[in-house]
Amino acid sequence: MIAGQIAAVRAAMLERPAGLVRHAERVLAEAAPLARAWQADEARVELAVWGHDLFRAEPAEAQLRLARETGVAIDADAAAFPILLHGPVAAAVLRERFGVTDEEALAAVRDHTAGLDRMSLIARILLIADKIEANKRRRAPALAAMRELARRDLDTAILCWSDWRWANEARERYRTQAAHWRARRAWVAEHHRDLAMPERVSASAFAAAARREGLARPPA
Ligand SMILES: [Fe+2]
Ligand SMILES: [Fe+2]
Repeated sequence: MIAGQIAAVRAAMLERPAGLVRHAERVLAEAAPLARAWQADEARVELAVWGHDLFRAEPAEAQLRLARETGVAIDADAAAFPILLHGPVAAAVLRERFGVTDEEALAAVRDHTAGLDRMSLIARILLIADKIEANKRRRAPALAAMRELARRDLDTAILCWSDWRWANEARERYRTQAAHWRARRAWVAEHHRDLAMPERVSASAFAAAARREGLARPPA
């Protein structure tokens, strides 16, 4: 079933502008090895890759119309920049027109621009693959380090990308997407929780605990 869905979504994507098709191919070239490295289902990742930018080339009016037709919510950021709707619209169309029922693949497509506080493995692979593909690395060499990091630590790679995006936005005085900022705050909190060191204890408290546990008994 998934092979048929991949074929249908890929065929639809291949009708899009050539530059966008090549982007999808470059994203797949990043996402497939990441899927293998992280033991994600390659077919589900491929389905999400072919679907994620199906509507990326649509002009603003079409984004807004598609969003209304598919019941996608239009927040303040999307009203100002309708291109932000292309992920949510693609997810809705994949579900309705292509019969995709894989909720993780659909959410991966939906959230590939802004991210989300909690993302499936498929969504995290798509997000980082989309951001570090070869063309983007040529334009911004810093992304190469995030690509390497993604092989060791997917979440930290995504957080680094988010930092990099934030620095760019601050420098260029771009507006920060509220949905991305919500996701980013959750990622930062999670990261610091993971890295938190065990509580420090004084030497006397340690000795008392060791005695209690019977660890400080002299050897017989
Ligand atoms: Fe996109
Ligand atoms: Fe993309």
